[in-house]
Order: sequence, then structure tokens, then C-alpha cells
Amino acid sequence: MSLKRHNSFCRIEFGEGLLSRVGEISREALPDACRAAVISDTNVFPLYGDTLCASLKNSGFKVTAFSFLAGEGSKTLATAEKIIKLLAEEGFSRSDAVFALGGGVVGDTAGFAASVYMRGMGLVQLPTTLMAAVDSSIGGKTGVDLDCGKNLVGSFYRPDAVICDTDIIKALPDGIFTDGMAEVIKYGAICDAELLSELEKNAPSRPSAKVIERCIELKLAAIISDEKDRGERRKLNFGHTLGHASELLSGYMLSHGSSVAAGEVAESRLAEALGICEKGFSERLSKLLKSYGLPTELPFPIAETVGAALHDKKNSGGKIGFSLPDGKGGWSFSLLEPGQVIELLSRE
Ligand code: GLY
Repeated sequence: MSLKRHNSFCRIEFGEGLLSRVGEISREALPDACRAAVISDTNVFPLYGDTLCASLKNSGFKVTAFSFLAGEGSKTLATAEKIIKLLAEEGFSRSDAVFALGGGVVGDTAGFAASVYMRGMGLVQLPTTLMAAVDSSIGGKTGVDLDCGKNLVGSFYRPDAVICDTDIIKALPDGIFTDGMAEVIKYGAICDAELLSELEKNAPSRPSAKVIERCIELKLAAIISDEKDRGERRKLNFGHTLGHASELLSGYMLSHGSSVAAGEVAESRLAEALGICEKGFSERLSKLLKSYGLPTELPFPIAETVGAALHDKKNSGGKIGFSLPDGKGGWSFSLLEPGQVIELLSRE
């Protein structure tokens, strides 16, 4: 199965057994690249690193591999600097490529390093989590966190290819798979009412490859119309304003998916209170998220969470930016006063 025929953004390959074909596919996507920097983490490299490196070597790439400690705590300027220095010390040129093998942290950090090294080199995203497959590996957002806010340093940088081996996604342990369901449900909530109903009908089973492919198509449609996140793409941030705030307050100890899940419910409650969507939608989402074992209550007090959201990238003029659902598969963007958000979310 391949999505590339639907897509003018970048080459996307999605299907079974693709890890061992990465070298061959990348040869076509990056005809001038001689060297490959495989960037991964301490969880993923031991599982899939050897297969990837062998595939790249068989296709004529000279391979250098580097793994950093798994976890959001590694999504820092310091890790990006280590990758950039490695590329420089090893003599990588701008026509060579970084291969980001992992979930969102690896993809964002390695993608950022690739985007700034020599003002941009080749980049292939190889998502190994559901969250990365349906969201972070596609769309060219790269970046790292600061102590005062998530993803505050970064770039928009199109990968040359995204190659997702669905055998890896199928083999994911429940916890990591579940984390990605917050993003899958996001697409149903904000872009596609039919998808939301289908997810509700089949919960709590794992979504089919067709559903995952649908999420990728929805993401592509948003980024093709608005690559730089100034209009349509902002809908993909549903649940993320309060979700990112919770991640920040937890010192990046809470997972992205669990933070976004609770953020989606709280932001749906905001939409209901503002009359943007009908009452009951937050309850509907909450039931679906809960069926996958995802949390649906904000983990920190509302005032603290709203305080942390003051660092969000979507904010403007002291107001906090929210992408809110209309409950019918659509959305709108609202800038709200912090006090108003606290008041609306404090209502019983
Ligand atoms: N994850 C939101 C976006 O890519 O715009």
C-alpha cells in the first residue's frame, strides 16, 4: 500500500515489510545521498536498528548510527547539538541524509538537526509509534522543548520521504499504541464525523490500516493547504493547548497522548460552554478515550494548567489560542482570556 499517489507534500510509503526496503526507497527519494545518519533512541534502535542499517548499506549508503536516551526529556537543544556535531565531525554533506527511526521525540529532534545542519540536509522519517505514524512524522514540524515550553524551538522542514512499516505499528505494546489513539481520535473529532462514529463503533479495538491511512490523508490535506500552521492546519492542535501545558507542568514526565487526551476533553468542554458545539460532545469523546484507557481529566489544577498554557505558540496578545470542535467534524479557532478559560472550565 502506498500513499504517494495522493500526495504533493512528500513521498509517503505506508505498508508491510518496508523497513528492510528503506535503502531501496531512499535511493529513489535521495539520488545524490552517499551517507546515512541513523538517529534513534535506546528503546527503538535495539529492535530495528540492525535491519535498517543493513538495508541502507545494501543500497550503497555509508552508515553512521547514533542513539540517545529514550523519552521526552531528551527532546532538547543539547541532544540536537550532539547530532549536529556528529554530522559535522563525520563529514556529512548537505546532500546526505538523516534517517529518524523512532517515535515523535526522535522524529522531531533528528528532523530539527537535519533542518539546520548546513541549512538543511536530506531527511527520511521512519515512524515506529502510532502517534508518529499518524501525526508527528508527517507535515514537516521539527523541534525541541525548552524548560519553559514544549516545541518552542523548531522549523518547518519537509522530509524527503516518510516510510512507515505497518508491521512495526502492529507489534507495538498496548501502552505505546494507546498513546497514539489520542491523535487518531483527534482526527475524528475535528475533521471527520464519520471516522469518529466508526471509532466509537469499533472501540476499544486497534484501528485498521485503513483507518490509519485515513488519518494520514486528513493530516496531508490540512498541511497541503496550510504548511506553516496559520489557518487550516491549526485544527490539528485540538487538545494540544491544554495537553502541552500538562506535559510542561509534569516536567515532560506525562506522555504526549495521555496529556492530549485529557486536553481534548477539557477543550471540548470549552467549546460547549462557548456554544461552539452542542452539549454532550465532551462526554462522547471522554467515553471513547476512556475505552482505550486514556485519561480524561486534566492532571493539574485548572489555574496552573492555564498559567502553563500562556507559553503556547498559538497565543496572541496575552490571549490563549484554542482549536475547538463544532461536534460535527468541523472546528474554529478562538483566542480566549486566561481568566475566561479558568472560569469556564471551573463550572460544574
Ligand atoms: N501536530 C499538529 C501539526 O502537525 O500541525
